[in-house]
Amino acid sequence: MIHRLLAVLSLAFFIGNAVNAEPFVQGGPIGSQTSDGYNALGPVVQQPIEFPHYRHARDMGINCMYCHTGARRGYVSAIPRIDKCIGCHQNIESVRNKPRIKKLFEYWDKKEPIPWKKVNDLPDYVRFNHERHIQRFYFRQNRPVREVCGYCHGDVANMTVDRRVKALSMGWCISCHQKDHKESDTNMKTSHGPGECWQCHK
Ligand code: HEC
Ligand code: HEC
Ligand code: HEC
Ligand code: HEC
Ligand code: HEC
Repeated sequence: MIHRLLAVLSLAFFIGNAVNAEPFVQGGPIGSQTSDGYNALGPVVQQPIEFPHYRHARDMGINCMYCHTGARRGYVSAIPRIDKCIGCHQNIESVRNKPRIKKLFEYWDKKEPIPWKKVNDLPDYVRFNHERHIQRFYFRQNRPVREVCGYCHGDVANMTVDRRVKALSMGWCISCHQKDHKESDTNMKTSHGPGECWQCHK
């Protein structure tokens, strides 16, 4: 009860802040880091294998959801399991002896999952749901997948490993929810995203 009350009290303060907050500023080119490190490209996360998104998603044009299969139907997009990498890479001789691919097969031979680190990570008290956004923007509005993922993740197809490019703050979520969004590509009806506390908080 006290907990709830505190949440509601901090609400007035918080909403005031959210509305007056500095608009999100995108950082410099990939690889750079601005001094505030938050309203900009997120920090570089050292991954166990420096996975090149640009070669898979841009040069080969593999759909984001071929690897991140959870996005269309679940809360979590998820990182593909190592079998998916091996399924292709066991047949690709051209890069078989590259250091990063050797490392990939070392994990596979040891039967170990690759310990990818999280890049985008909301606090546990926030409820976020990929499916609802993907259903709306990709399936119903019929927008290109790169654009839709890009609303929240930026142009990952031009990155090596992913970097956080959006603030992922409450004010940022709410400002998009307050906009008019078309309900589908076939009618002009619009509606907003949810604005009630309980819809984003558990
Ligand atoms: C409306 C904003 C939004 C859109 C659109 C979006 N994401 Fe996300 N994504 C997030 C947020 C926020 C997180 C962090 C979630 C958390 O920590 O609970 C996240 C996390 C992820 C993760 C880490 C694993 C996970 O699910 O927590 C992957 C991978 C990912 N997104 C891929 C994608 C892909 C691929 C698309 C497009 C098909 C996409 N996202 C579209 C906001 C978005
Ligand atoms: C659909 C097939 C396919 C899948 C799935 C796939 N890859 Fe690749 N990957 C390729 C091909 C083809 C190349 C070589 C592309 C080129 O020559 O530019 C490549 C290149 C790479 C490279 C660069 C190698 C180098 O140093 O030149 C790395 C690292 C890599 N993949 C890691 C992964 C990992 C990790 C996964 C699983 C998360 C994965 N790949 C899944 C097809 C795939
Ligand atoms: C061949 C498989 C593959 C494809 C295709 C792919 N990804 Fe990824 N993605 C990965 C792997 C492996 C990681 C973990 C390494 C990293 O963080 O970059 C990852 C990480 C991510 C993350 C960060 C997850 C986190 O912890 O927050 C996001 C966001 C993401 N991908 C979005 C995309 C988008 C958008 C596309 C399409 C433009 C895409 N990915 C295409 C394999 C893939
Ligand atoms: C690009 C605009 C955009 C951004 C950014 C965005 N959302 Fe949304 N969100 C929407 C829209 C539109 C809907 C309504 C989807 C539908 O149901 O058709 C929605 C729906 C949701 C729902 C579903 C509520 C339910 O009833 O299940 C949750 C939860 C949610 N958003 C949380 C978040 C959070 C948390 C963030 C920030 C990390 C965020 N959203 C960022 C546009 C956005
Ligand atoms: C559209 C989704 C969304 C809605 C609606 C929303 N929040 Fe949040 N809220 C978030 C996110 C995302 C964060 C985490 C921000 C971060 O990590 O910087 C957050 C953080 C918070 C925090 C923690 C702030 C801090 O400084 O640690 C409080 C308290 C909070 N929200 C209260 C509320 C209340 C009360 C409401 C109802 C008026 C509400 N929120 C509505 C998404 C939402």
